[in-house]
Amino acid sequence: MKIALLGCGVVGGGVLDICDAREDIEVKYVLVRRDRPELGARAVKDISTIINDKEVETVVEVMGGLSPAYEYVCAAMKAGKSVVTANKHLVAHYYKELTSLARECGVALRCTPAVGGGIPWLKNLERVLRLDKVKSFSGIMNGTTNFILDAMHFDGRDFSEVLSQAQKLGYAEADPSADIDGLDIQRKCIISANVAFGVCVGEADVPVFGIRSICSADIAAAERLGCVCKMLAFGKALDGGISVYVEPCFVKHGELEAAVSTNRNVISFETELTGKESFYGQGAGRYPTAYNVAEDVLDIMGGEKSFYTDKAEPATPDNSLDAHAYYVRCAVNDEWLSSVAVERCCEGVVTEPVTVAKMHEWASKMKEVEPSLFIAGLV
Ligand code: HSE
Repeated sequence: MKIALLGCGVVGGGVLDICDAREDIEVKYVLVRRDRPELGARAVKDISTIINDKEVETVVEVMGGLSPAYEYVCAAMKAGKSVVTANKHLVAHYYKELTSLARECGVALRCTPAVGGGIPWLKNLERVLRLDKVKSFSGIMNGTTNFILDAMHFDGRDFSEVLSQAQKLGYAEADPSADIDGLDIQRKCIISANVAFGVCVGEADVPVFGIRSICSADIAAAERLGCVCKMLAFGKALDGGISVYVEPCFVKHGELEAAVSTNRNVISFETELTGKESFYGQGAGRYPTAYNVAEDVLDIMGGEKSFYTDKAEPATPDNSLDAHAYYVRCAVNDEWLSSVAVERCCEGVVTEPVTVAKMHEWASKMKEVEPSLFIAGLV
């Protein structure tokens, strides 16, 4: 199959290496913004060269960002080409538009590398949905934050030093705020919830708390409670609606997520028939992510012609349906926090169970006056 790559950075370079080593996938074009003499004649700067070439059956978008990636993948689908993308921002933001267009054009739209890097999470979610119903999913969906939290816990290292290392290793986003503020995970969580529950959830409706403000006192608090701090994403089908959110959590030693080290991710679903299944592997980095891009291309070569689900009902998560205790470190005296606190823990408090909606609403307002605030769910 002849394909075109849009972008040739960390992941795109990995895709090129993998495809060039195979006889069945030919990278005919690589769309680049600046001169890249090492790519030879296949480097092009004009998208229309790719769109107008009937030999190109699949376009692989690894350029990142919303625009022009959105316009380019839409043009590719309208020209009858299937699309593989590793761009979670693009898929989460334009979920309805892209999945509808793929259906209308009768082409495949695949984004397995967008959630979980090298883990075939979305593909397994698609597979389980053929005969089972997903009740919930949860997991570690970001390599950079897991790498940071792991090093803070087990090597006692400083937040900013570990973040620079994650950037050098190619785990972090171009702007690592997306990792540490949880937006990267929010996008992966939205795509997972949409596929798992056949819905279409907006970014503004999925609350997120990141790890930008975490400090050694929070790591000590987690350890005192017999836990490890992890960034987790959740999606749950509950009586009355769905709950979808992202937050740091203190996970008990002995739980699966607590043992996940470095850039690795683990994502699990719980279904009606099969129970809990977990998918573990490298969640970020050039070759793990490029591997899943190439796997998606192979699936298209094998006849894949669709997205992971054809349902996308508009839905607003209701996070007041879900409640648990939290650890909160807040330097400001706050009446509501005092009213729900049940015990002190290092420099913070542990609360009684409160709804996810209430805690995130409170934390988002409090952060404006107290930027060093840190919260973690106790799960
Ligand atoms: N920045 C992302 C991460 C890359 O650290 O998980 C993979 O999506």
